[in-house]
Amino acid sequence: MYIRKISSENRNQVNDFIISKWFSTDMVVRGELVDMSTLDGFIMYDGENILGLVTYIIKENECEIMSLDSLKENHGIGTTLLNKVIEIAREKKCIKIKVITTNDNINAIRFYQKRGFDMTKLYYNALDISRKLKPSIPLVGNSGIPLKHEIEFEMNL
Ligand SMILES: CC(C)(COP(=O)(O)OP(=O)(O)OC[C@H]1O[C@@H](n2cnc3c(N)ncnc32)[C@H](O)[C@@H]1OP(=O)(O)O)[C@@H](O)C(=O)NCCC(=O)NCCS
Repeated sequence: MYIRKISSENRNQVNDFIISKWFSTDMVVRGELVDMSTLDGFIMYDGENILGLVTYIIKENECEIMSLDSLKENHGIGTTLLNKVIEIAREKKCIKIKVITTNDNINAIRFYQKRGFDMTKLYYNALDISRKLKPSIPLVGNSGIPLKHEIEFEMNL
């Protein structure tokens, strides 16, 4: 396994991966559409196959993770990709890293808290707005949990 940055050479493959995980390259965060097909990020490869992907945006002195996906869970891929973002955010002199997950995402809620992130905000019923912009978002999420809210986590660097 090895890591590469997202580049013009792998952008199409990355976009296909994002669509396979999230139905389109548009993501809605805090009621705003984000075009995932232009973001920076890191890819975990196994040969020529993508095993994991993290994307992020750095604005002024804050870094926000927009997506983190692992196709082979519990093998350290998510942690390795998260650490790459922490590394680049430090290099770019960011003071914090933010990430949003939905209320049904028990895995992510555990994952981020165990890695130094703290819950800082609840966007109550945020998914009502998200669904207006992206109707493919289901009503019921992981483990049959109603998909309703966004939870923001932060880690100070
Ligand atoms: C959240 C997510 C990215 C984690 O990815 P992952 O590759 O499973 O992450 P890791 O393997 O690094 O860590 C997961 C667990 O496996 C354990 N683990 C890591 N390496 C391991 C190994 N070699 N053997 C056994 N267990 C291992 C870790 O301890 C960790 O457990 P913990 O969270 O209780 O500490 C993944 O579940 C995912 O893709 N979810 C769907 C998309 C999503 O919701 N993304 C987050 C919102 S942005």
